[in-house]
Amino acid sequence: MAIQWYPGHMNKAKKAIAERIKSVDMVIEVLDARLPASSANPLLAKLAADKPKLKILNKQDLADPERTELWLTDYRAQPHTNVLALDASEKQAASKIIAACRSLVPNRHGLDRPLRVLICGIPNVGKSTLINGMLGKRSAKTGNEPGITKAEQRLILADDFWLYDTPGMLWPKIIVEEAGYNLAASGAVGRNALDEETVALELLDYLRRHYLSLLQLRYQADLSESPHWRDDNWLEWIGKKRGALLSGGRIDYQKAAERVLTDFRDGLIGRITLETPNQWVVWLKKGQMQEAQLKAERAAKKAARKS
Ligand code: G4P
Repeated sequence: MAIQWYPGHMNKAKKAIAERIKSVDMVIEVLDARLPASSANPLLAKLAADKPKLKILNKQDLADPERTELWLTDYRAQPHTNVLALDASEKQAASKIIAACRSLVPNRHGLDRPLRVLICGIPNVGKSTLINGMLGKRSAKTGNEPGITKAEQRLILADDFWLYDTPGMLWPKIIVEEAGYNLAASGAVGRNALDEETVALELLDYLRRHYLSLLQLRYQADLSESPHWRDDNWLEWIGKKRGALLSGGRIDYQKAAERVLTDFRDGLIGRITLETPNQWVVWLKKGQMQEAQLKAERAAKKAARKS
């Protein structure tokens, strides 16, 4: 099963972003540090291809610090890109972000040449929390200002630093299957777009292979048995441990799945990152090959219908 969604209001967000990008100097992309590549919007990569970028690995408090380092190194190697790892407890977020932006676009400063920055992020990466923290007591000018659409806000962080905030935007088709599961596990996807049991089983499969000791610790699993458990053994065990039971003591798998996902989202299993730069390269290649195959099959079918 692949995770797919694209609620209608995302189209509005896309239009607002496409329009605003033309008049900004750079883009801040807020990513989820637990799934940096999966939470990066490929539409934004296209729309803002020629703009300098600050990537923020947000919610770093929930992510695996070693893997965050891998991602920071990976992003630092990209051209015209700066990167920061942050979380909501960071008191210096505003000054760090402003300094990182200014170093990317040093020629925009002063009242007559303010640095104009667009901030984007998919839903639930913590963009609003970050902006509220940065804003403090400063003003947020919304909607009704000339030149500002209803779908965006202009925030004046300093006299010569303007931040344009746009609604969280997803994209219509996810070609990397693992990205769909990771986004679903993180909570970026609305509940009605996913089957929680499947998402929980995929999550457990990854955790079992990469974070087994954290799983064992959280759910007090038998250390000698659990390395051999399959994902459904884990779900059953967690159902028992977390009280997800139906009458007669049968396991309520739906509830067990919800518990695992909530535990993961709240960081209760531990600091976890669901992908590394190397894993992502492999997944992306596989997704692109599948997509190319699908397109070729569709084209062949169309040609057959025509002839
Ligand atoms: P968004 O604008 O990108 O959609 O995200 P938002 O700021 O609304 O944050 C989504 C959820 O993530 C919120 O939790 C928020 O508290 C939490 N969050 C934001 N930044 C961080 C962070 O750096 N670390 C951690 N651990 N959590 C963060 P919520 O449960 O949806 O809402 P609430 O309980 O905070 O009201």
